[in-house]
Amino acid sequence: MKNRRESERLLQCNKRYISGGVVSVNRATEPEIAFARGEGAHIWDVDGNQYLDYHAAFGPHFLGHNEPHVTEAVRRVLREGISLFGSGTTMLEGQLGELICTHVPSAESVQLLNTGSEATYQAIRLGRAFTGRSHIVRMQGGYHGWHNDVACNLMTPLSDLGPRVSPGEYPFKPISAGIPEEHQQLVHNVNFNDLDSVRWVCQRYPIAALIAEPILQNIGVVKPEPGYLQGLRKLADEFGFFLIFDEVKTGFRHALGGYASIAQVSPDLVVFGKALANGYPIAVLAGRRELMDRFVDPSPARRVLLAGTYNAHPVPTAAAIATIERLLMNDGEVYRYTENLGEMMQQGLERIFARVGVRGVVARQGSAFCWYFMDHCPRDWHDLAMYHDFETDAVFRLMLVDRGIYVFPLPPKQCSISAAHTAADIEITLHHMENALAQAMEAVAEKSASTSRRS
Ligand SMILES: Cc1ncc(COP(=O)(O)O)c(C=O)c1O
Repeated sequence: MKNRRESERLLQCNKRYISGGVVSVNRATEPEIAFARGEGAHIWDVDGNQYLDYHAAFGPHFLGHNEPHVTEAVRRVLREGISLFGSGTTMLEGQLGELICTHVPSAESVQLLNTGSEATYQAIRLGRAFTGRSHIVRMQGGYHGWHNDVACNLMTPLSDLGPRVSPGEYPFKPISAGIPEEHQQLVHNVNFNDLDSVRWVCQRYPIAALIAEPILQNIGVVKPEPGYLQGLRKLADEFGFFLIFDEVKTGFRHALGGYASIAQVSPDLVVFGKALANGYPIAVLAGRRELMDRFVDPSPARRVLLAGTYNAHPVPTAAAIATIERLLMNDGEVYRYTENLGEMMQQGLERIFARVGVRGVVARQGSAFCWYFMDHCPRDWHDLAMYHDFETDAVFRLMLVDRGIYVFPLPPKQCSISAAHTAADIEITLHHMENALAQAMEAVAEKSASTSRRS
């Protein structure tokens, strides 16, 4: 067990000023570790313990922590006094806009915001303004931020959600208090990979927009079945709703053009964040010009308000430009490199499952991966919640963290490899995984034996 005295002391101290001691409830987890520094593929906590990082702060650090090209771009902004002016356009925002419109096939025009939540909020509002309809569709197991339209139906226990329905929808299960009942009526939750349910909802409600992560990466890595994303595109055209791809997690990590460019599906609107600026706070809403022009429509009745003091702040904007430049280097070599590491991880882990004798699979897209203790990769939340062994996963994750392999200790959160990881890092990780898994299985078996002895 690692020494975590300083982490514990800091948490207790911060509790005096911050409710719970941690900013953002999703960061409060067991074990409570206070991190202090990151470099490349490694992070260090305040007690000096070193970890190989697969959490990547929920995804942004695709190039690794403090990537030199990105850090230098940030330093240059500060050195040259490129401040936030809040009046008129800037060189940096134009440069970033051009890069995104050049490399993202569905992007004809962009807006820059600070967070993924703001961008998904604006995308949905734009869809509503354009169609004059109010209802939206989203996926059970998807995550799009904290606002009223989308703060629901993430990892809903099946005891609360009920059995699979198809075609049909699930009740709105808020993940936040304070969402008005009337608002909840406007949001329709269906299972991923289920086109019949989208059609079912569209036949009953006037749908303005459907928002979906093209791969569900907030419940591990749940991939679209062949034809699913294309089917969503067809339904959008048939029923006249806007197709919004939330590529906050998938965008720039899987390809410069987002996962949509891999799937060859063109959404009406697309949202990016996270890997776009390798750890700096910026998000992008992009899409068809006809739609995006609504943000500057001369008619106040038609114009959609998009404003924000810090939008296109020079520091994250420069970081995003530098990140894209880095991703473009050597003909996108970073994607081939991380794909190879991802494959090495997947094959190694699958071999470990076979050797240790555990039923398990690895779901992966490029550098993003997740293991599931079940016999197939899940196709939606119901599949995952019914078959995945959450208990073994939770213990396995804790044992990895204790060995200096930082995966977020909450199943079934996705793991991220970065361009700063090396083949040697993957080997070390696999070595620890084998021991941690064997030990986790022993611990779970021992616990269930002692429970059955007691009963
Ligand atoms: C797919 C997806 N969309 C939107 C968001 C919200 O982004 P942010 O946390 O920057 O508001 C997240 C955050 O994890 C996300 O994973």
